[in-house]
Amino acid sequence: MIFMYAAMGGVPALLFLYLISSLLLLKLEIYILTILIATGLFVFSVLGFYESYSYKPDKSKIISPEVYRAVNYTSKEPRKSWEKELTVKVKRFNNLEKRFDECTYKVEADKYSTVLGSLIKIKERLDPTLSVRYSCRMGICGSCGMVVNGKPVLACETNAFESITEKGIEVEPMQAQGMLRDLVVDLDEFFEKHKSVAPYLFREDKKEKYEAKEAYKQTKEELSKYLPYSYCIMCSLCLDACPVVNTNPEFIGPQALSQVYRYHEDSRDQKGSQRLESIDSVLGVWGCEFAGSCSKACPKGVDPASAIQLLKGEVVKNIVIKDEKND
Ligand code: FES
Repeated sequence: MIFMYAAMGGVPALLFLYLISSLLLLKLEIYILTILIATGLFVFSVLGFYESYSYKPDKSKIISPEVYRAVNYTSKEPRKSWEKELTVKVKRFNNLEKRFDECTYKVEADKYSTVLGSLIKIKERLDPTLSVRYSCRMGICGSCGMVVNGKPVLACETNAFESITEKGIEVEPMQAQGMLRDLVVDLDEFFEKHKSVAPYLFREDKKEKYEAKEAYKQTKEELSKYLPYSYCIMCSLCLDACPVVNTNPEFIGPQALSQVYRYHEDSRDQKGSQRLESIDSVLGVWGCEFAGSCSKACPKGVDPASAIQLLKGEVVKNIVIKDEKND
């Protein structure tokens, strides 16, 4: 705004210079026209400045978050013939008072709407205080994980119409993580667990990274051993679905364990048995009770449950090899 007014102030200044030069050339009609335009622009500039300085927001129109929490929201938009009104019940974590609140929203959706799309619509049109984490909206980034009708899912890949139940659509944050606000959970611990298993290719020759002579070659068989486990997008839904993590948060969980298997089976990796030894405990691979809910929850078809069982075999094999060496 300031720049606009400055520009508006600059125009009269230019006209003023033109006026002087016109005057010197004694063209009277140009002189009169210029002075009229300059006066008009000057008046507009003064009015603009006055308006911006005298503006005071109408406080009665600013609604505090507390007021939002007590209200049911209904969209006032006219509904199109192909749209339906959805009832979305959102269980929100109130980070100030450390409790959950339930807000009910009524929004329009068509048959292509996703649960995330409906939540974004709610945030944009009904309740701007609602916090939701998302990024790609296409099942790639893994950031929109939440619990819809009791199941951990990616909200951007969940169709809203197909999720309608008698009670509407019930949305809540994932429970196995710490809470930040509303539907946003704290994933720090989850990423720490992932980091703890060295989820990267380990090579003994450090120089090779900078002076690589050729690509690492793999056969199809070598690739197929780990490829299905490399599709993990770290959405943490498997962790949320796991009954062991939900009862013992210290358990490393299906995501990190499936990544141990993924890197252990990669023929390019040279970490040897170190990763296997780091998870040889009840908080590691032996904590898994093979409920299989992690594999059901995975939106990318990774099968952490099978990876963990195969990993148990690898851990035992490693122990036997070590014992034989010691004998
Ligand atoms: Fe990226 Fe849903 S927003 S996976």
